[in-house]
Amino acid sequence: MTDLATVTLPVATPRQARRILGQTLRPHWRAASLALTVLIGTVGAGLFIPPALGTLVDIVYTGGEHGDLTRPLVTLAVATLVQGALSSGGWLLIVQVGETALAGLRETVLGHALSLPQAEIERGGTGDLVSRVSNDVDKVSEALRRGIPQFLWSACAVVLTVGGLAALDWRFALAGLVSLPFYAWAARGYLTVSPPLFAAERRAEGERSQQLVETLGGFLTIQALLLGPRHLRRTDVRSEAARRASIKAMDTTAWFFSRIHLGELTGTGTVLVLGAWLVGNGDATVGEATAAALYFIRLYDPIGLLVNLLDEVQSATASLSRLVGILQVEAPARPGGPEPRDTTLTLRGVRFGYADGPDVLYGVDLEIRPGEHVALVGASGAGKTTLAALVAGIHEPRTGSIELGGTPLAGMSRADLARHITLISQEVHVFAGTLAEDLRLADADATEPHLREALSLVGAISWVDLLPDGLDTRVGTGGFALTPVQAQQIALARLVLRDPAVAVLDEATAEAGSAGARELEASMARVLAGRTALLVAHRLTTAAAADRVVIMRDGQIVEQGPPSELATRGGPYSELWHAWQTHR
Ligand SMILES: Nc1ncnc2c1ncn2[C@@H]1O[C@H](COP(=O)(O)OP(=O)(O)OP(=O)(O)O)[C@@H](O)[C@H]1O
Ligand SMILES: [Mg+2]
Repeated sequence: MTDLATVTLPVATPRQARRILGQTLRPHWRAASLALTVLIGTVGAGLFIPPALGTLVDIVYTGGEHGDLTRPLVTLAVATLVQGALSSGGWLLIVQVGETALAGLRETVLGHALSLPQAEIERGGTGDLVSRVSNDVDKVSEALRRGIPQFLWSACAVVLTVGGLAALDWRFALAGLVSLPFYAWAARGYLTVSPPLFAAERRAEGERSQQLVETLGGFLTIQALLLGPRHLRRTDVRSEAARRASIKAMDTTAWFFSRIHLGELTGTGTVLVLGAWLVGNGDATVGEATAAALYFIRLYDPIGLLVNLLDEVQSATASLSRLVGILQVEAPARPGGPEPRDTTLTLRGVRFGYADGPDVLYGVDLEIRPGEHVALVGASGAGKTTLAALVAGIHEPRTGSIELGGTPLAGMSRADLARHITLISQEVHVFAGTLAEDLRLADADATEPHLREALSLVGAISWVDLLPDGLDTRVGTGGFALTPVQAQQIALARLVLRDPAVAVLDEATAEAGSAGARELEASMARVLAGRTALLVAHRLTTAAAADRVVIMRDGQIVEQGPPSELATRGGPYSELWHAWQTHR
């Protein structure tokens, strides 16, 4: 079963997780203390209810006057109203604090994940990452929004209600405490047994998500290679593991509740027996004994909640640890080297492989001079996209070096890299939002004339002006569907706005159709003018327009030179050229 072993991202210890939670909540302490005060007020108001009911019982029992009923009835009404009003206000405050704090935490984690080299995330699995920022954030969110406030409310309610019992007669409080050992017994068992079970449940769920992402992500390949049954089997195994882990965790919860009910039974029984005895002795009225029993019954909810919350706190701590674990994946230190001298790109003996896999590039040497346009050509799987990603600084070579104007890319900060080099990937992603928002991802301060200028340069302004809302048309998921050529043009416009000295373009493999392709070629030529460019060319006409063509085969450069020279040399390029001519 070794092929099912999954490398996952690290998990923080509960202590580290709590420290981060503290840091997240600290800025909101004012709102949090206000909310807490309101909650204490809610519990306080509720304390008036049992004695008022007790007084009513006494009045009825002893055959009192009608007029005597007024005071307890007014007390009941006022206490209930105040309790209701404070309670809704208090929860509202709490939800606000919880949500704001959580949004901060999610941003921190996601921001960190996005700043990591792609390789680190891939090693841990994007499915696991997705599961953490969705499932685990939900669990923590639930705890912040509901769990922590309910925990505080319950704790308050227990302390104050036991105080109320003691105020009636200290012996009632003592009788109520008889149930304590049962609660403690249940809680202790639960606290030692459940954490590993919940951690296992989360982990199993993460692995199931990882498997689903892999299966769905590789859908076409799986179909093509008839790997369906194998992937179904793997998904089954992971789903079954997740189901078992959940049931195991649920079993413990059920066991826990049976102990709690035992505690409730013992406590109520003792308070009732004691009440009967005190009434018999003349030490308490029937009304007081009633109030005591009602007080104890009022403890069921907060104690039940505390129990429930132990469960939720456990599970939220497990989730928080996984969330905070992402922060522990360290991005390799990038000291920020000297400013590059010029835009010469120099690759020396570059070897690279994905994650723990074998090398896919075997010692690539290449120099691209300032302003030069180099086209990278080769069969599928030759390593073109990989080399492009390395040149854009997305991956780092295993051995060898890549320098921009004498400064190693590995030594440049992410911000510097992004300032100098822009990559347009093979599959362009159009982000959900308006077209203007999508373009401003490249330059947040770009004015509308700037955006329009960039769109004109890439030849997109004519169709953008025909969109229902022009630049404010919603695009991406759920919005106006752009054609592949349009999406490429938007990517080119983003490049124009970002205005880097070096552009790395991975031409889309999908045939854009001849007219579309010619249009894109023209856009590309305008965009690249004056920049140093590495261009992965799937269409040989694109390659023919470059200053130099580099042919790759199996992770190595096998031929290079000006396209006009290579075309007549009789080497790999002219073979490709002839094949291209005949198949077109
Ligand atoms: N994320 C990845 N994880 C593991 N191996 C990968 C990954 N991406 C690419 N490879 C492998 O690296 C090698 C080079 O792939 P690459 O995508 O660079 O080829 P390419 O020349 O861009 O091909 P195409 O013309 O199909 O785009 C291939 O053997 C491929 O299977
Ligand atoms: Mg590719």
